[in-house]
Amino acid sequence: MKMFLKVAQFILVFSISLNLSAAELVRFQECEEKSELACQIHAVRINPCPESSSDLPCKIKRGRSASIEFDYSTDFRATELDSRVYWNNEGVDLPLIGVDTNGCNIVSCPIEAHVNNTYTWTLNVSKKFPIRTFDIKMKVKNEDENFCCFLTKIRLTK
Ligand SMILES: *[C@@H]1O[C@H](CO)[C@@H](O)[C@H](O)[C@H]1NC(C)=O
Ligand SMILES: *[C@@H]1O[C@H](CO)[C@@H](O)[C@H](O)[C@H]1NC(C)=O
Repeated sequence: MKMFLKVAQFILVFSISLNLSAAELVRFQECEEKSELACQIHAVRINPCPESSSDLPCKIKRGRSASIEFDYSTDFRATELDSRVYWNNEGVDLPLIGVDTNGCNIVSCPIEAHVNNTYTWTLNVSKKFPIRTFDIKMKVKNEDENFCCFLTKIRLTK
């Protein structure tokens, strides 16, 4: 576990950016945990992801950057957004550091209820991270513990 945490620290350095190039729709799963007020995830896209048409996890080259974005609407309002990314390793969430945890730096706050919006993460993928498939969990939470949460897979390659 300790080693995993150490590795997780290296994984992905996230930065904020507006990425307007084409992104591919990918498969995702809503988290089993739910908050009192719901969040609807309408779509998740990853760029680059040439594998999406063959329904395989997106291959992301280490040392490159990639974006993961999702379209959502919420039944809640948010003036603050706590934004976390985890490596979901056999059910255990290992937080990835180097992530900007202030979601309001990415989308403009406040978030109003019942409005469609898109949230975009840009990841710089460290070469130190192992080559394998990862279940990535993304969770964005408001000040009252209501959240949006989903899982998706990526595959890191050389
Ligand atoms: C991620 O990579 C981009 C392009 O190489 C760079 O401009 C940016 O500063 C990096 N972000 C972080 C947080 O390292
Ligand atoms: C938000 O997007 C979803 C899926 O694209 C659509 O079904 C829904 O009507 C939209 N809602 C609003 C409030 O625009």
